[in-house]
Amino acid sequence: MIEVKKITEEDIFSINRLLESLNLVPYPDLGKILKDDGFITLKAISNGEIIGGLIGRFSLDEGEIYDIFISKKFQRKGVGGKLYGEFEYILLKNGIRKVFLEVRESNLKAISFYKKLGFVEGGRRKNYYKNPSEDALIFFKSL
Ligand SMILES: CC(C)(COP(=O)(O)OP(=O)(O)OC[C@H]1O[C@@H](n2cnc3c(N)ncnc32)[C@H](O)[C@@H]1OP(=O)(O)O)[C@@H](O)C(=O)NCCC(=O)NCCS
Repeated sequence: MIEVKKITEEDIFSINRLLESLNLVPYPDLGKILKDDGFITLKAISNGEIIGGLIGRFSLDEGEIYDIFISKKFQRKGVGGKLYGEFEYILLKNGIRKVFLEVRESNLKAISFYKKLGFVEGGRRKNYYKNPSEDALIFFKSL
């Protein structure tokens, strides 16, 4: 069974290792983020092991996904969809009706995932990413 819970201080090391294993950038300031009410941080657990996570934030009227990440072994099993569903539920509870995110234009897997969730492409940020340098596509969803 997969459970979704809030990330806690004890998870910081595992979450950053998981991000690194997926070639995503870890969060040196994750401890600070966890204490900030404007952030939504979720983990997916299977048999006591962290297998995925979502880090996002919301302000007055919009939510943003910073990262959503599932360990390779557990991809394409609905875990990402489950994490996103919980994120959207929290946004709705807080009266948020818009969500957006940036994604590397070469990340076809993630783009397909976001489209399946109802996101639509709405812009591009030139050379937004470094190492390697790449444009970001911006995706939006109205809730
Ligand atoms: C993108 C990611 C979060 C998706 O999570 P996931 O748990 O594997 O996705 P799900 O199983 O919930 O998939 C839901 C839908 O997304 C789409 N999708 C997911 N993975 C896909 C893939 N590899 N190829 C094509 N479509 C895909 C499909 O439509 C899928 O529905 P289906 O399985 O019924 O066809 C995951 O692949 C991941 O962690 N990738 C590496 C990190 C990353 O790039 N994160 C995004 C940028 S921050």
